[in-house]
Amino acid sequence: MTPEFLIIHQQAQPHVAHIALNRPKELNALNLQLMTELRDALRALDEDEQVRVIVLSGNEKAFAAGADIRQMAGRTAMDMYNVDQFSTWDAIKKIKKPLIAAVSGFALGGGCELAMLCDMIVASETAKFGQPEIKIGVMPGAGGTQRLTRAVGKALAMEMVLTGKFITADEAWKAGLINRVVPVELYLEEAFRLAAEIAQLSPLAVKMAKESVLRAFDSTLDEGLHFERKNFYLLFASEDQKEGMQAFLEKRAPVFTGK
Ligand code: HXC
Repeated sequence: MTPEFLIIHQQAQPHVAHIALNRPKELNALNLQLMTELRDALRALDEDEQVRVIVLSGNEKAFAAGADIRQMAGRTAMDMYNVDQFSTWDAIKKIKKPLIAAVSGFALGGGCELAMLCDMIVASETAKFGQPEIKIGVMPGAGGTQRLTRAVGKALAMEMVLTGKFITADEAWKAGLINRVVPVELYLEEAFRLAAEIAQLSPLAVKMAKESVLRAFDSTLDEGLHFERKNFYLLFASEDQKEGMQAFLEKRAPVFTGK
């Protein structure tokens, strides 16, 4: 089924897919249908051998201004429990290919959390990041208290979560939340440039490297090191490892096939 709230380009560039959130009138507010469409699109691209990296963007004005407040406003706790909206988020967390968020304008609440669920964030100078849920009587629910704190530390995370204040792209970069800030007319181009750089590497090594970095957030150092080592050994079963090392020795560029 064609998604209503997404624009999907399976090959925006060789081996790079692009998903644009497309609910512009509501500043890409993340309603349940949009999140389900996003989960399904990401799963399909994760299984697509032609795709190695996925860029996720909004539009120039908004990456996403949060979960859809209109949809949530009348819900009871039991509605929230039964709807189980975070199951889509849990599924997105399991995507193996690198996700690059290209953020311009508002990345607020669930929008900021969605950007943080991605593996890297490229932002335009106009980007604003925030967790303003406190101003509508709730608090972050899709990782905002956890991923933000791990990224920027306690002081800034507390301030953002307890006051709802927004930070600029420059502040986000200085705090370690995002990878880079570029002029607004270049933010998509820069995200694609980064994606292309990764897309020419071994997709197996990239996936296992992503998995290993993420493991750092969920494990002790010893468990993480053990996990890293297993993935490192496992890559010696790939043709890409033979190709990569042989190409180095022969002083030529490697050609990775993902096998
Ligand atoms: C539903 C939203 C929305 C949202 C904006 N809109 N954000 N609708 N849910 N989160 C709608 C507005 O109602 C309005 O529709 C249209 O988008 C344009 O927004 P304006 O407010 O008129 O624009 P502007 O004055 O430029 O202000 C932009 C803004 C503001 C600062 C981003 O819209 C805002 O504060 N939005 C809410 C941000 C927020 O609180 N996010 C956290 C949500 S809770 P109409 O029809 O009136 O023109 C959350 C929990 C996450 O994310 C839990 C896990 C998923």
